[in-house]
Amino acid sequence: MKTLLMIKPDAVKKRIIGKIISILEENGFEITGIKMKRFSREEAEKFYEVHKEKPFFSELIDFITSDSVVGIRIEGEDIVKKIRDFIGETEPKKAREGTIRNLFGESITKNVVHASDTIENAIRELKFFFED
Ligand code: CMP
Repeated sequence: MKTLLMIKPDAVKKRIIGKIISILEENGFEITGIKMKRFSREEAEKFYEVHKEKPFFSELIDFITSDSVVGIRIEGEDIVKKIRDFIGETEPKKAREGTIRNLFGESITKNVVHASDTIENAIRELKFFFED
């Protein structure tokens, strides 16, 4: 099973890409792909299409296109759930201690990382970064 962890522009700006990758490796996660890219508005709107009716949608798109992002493919048993647990709640203040969002997140928008929430979404979202 595979999932996508995406490092967001706030983390890229803070120069903690390496730190996040180290934390993943130190915790035994198997990284099988890494790609940095900058989303166009159209791509970002497609990536986050499930949120398009939400009041925060334009803020989310402005933010995610404000700098590059890093797509990380991670493989393993039950990996979608494991990575979701590992990054913590969407709102960093509510995120469990020691999780990536708890350690580095500033706000619900600047929350460092995104991770696919279902196996189907993982397959869909990985295609934004990787061909296979
Ligand atoms: P993410 O896991 O990338 O999925 C969608 C993103 O929308 C989420 O992380 C947050 O960064 C953002 N988001 C969710 N809820 C809100 C909200 N109430 N206000 C602003 N941004 C939000």
